[in-house]
Amino acid sequence: MTRRDKDNYPTPRSIIRVVLQRIEWPCGDVWEPCAGDGRFSHALQSKGWRVIEHDIKDGLDFFDWEKAQASTIITNPPFNVMRNFIDHAFDIGVERMALVCNERLWACGKGHAQWCRHRPSRFVNMTWREDYLGKGGSPDRALAVSIWDTPHADECKYEVWNRDIA
Ligand SMILES: C[S@@+](CC[C@H](N)C(=O)[O-])C[C@H]1O[C@@H](n2cnc3c(N)ncnc32)[C@H](O)[C@@H]1O
Repeated sequence: MTRRDKDNYPTPRSIIRVVLQRIEWPCGDVWEPCAGDGRFSHALQSKGWRVIEHDIKDGLDFFDWEKAQASTIITNPPFNVMRNFIDHAFDIGVERMALVCNERLWACGKGHAQWCRHRPSRFVNMTWREDYLGKGGSPDRALAVSIWDTPHADECKYEVWNRDIA
């Protein structure tokens, strides 16, 4: 299956909902640098965040930024450049970040090397799978979430989230 241009796979709304329910940071400025159709931004705004929103489709390439546009990022970035995305975010001054990611992000050699550079504070698996790639049928992959309260945590807390938490 060929991937969509710019890895444009909008985040399933069930995932956005639980991320917003479980993020423990007080609302403030947040950068959504890969905003796509704006669904994450709108959900963040509805919770009281002030969102700074960009996307490469508007000519704003995340890798061209030399300074973070806010100290917090919350997004679902393109998975095909996920590792570079994480390194670049912290290189340009991001302090906290929540990323929707592949459930196997850390489970390989490159994952381990990045874990040593930028260990997240929390890593979360979901109890359900969404067909986020639009392949049809029963999804064979699940989305996960990595959350950094700091660019390198001493320890990572493992969590499993159910959908529609009260
Ligand atoms: C997986 S989609 C997610 C979109 C949105 N964040 C969401 O949660 O639905 C990835 C998005 O990243 C954008 N994108 C891809 N490469 C990018 C880059 N280098 N800089 C900024 N945006 C990029 C794509 O256009 C697409 O909208």
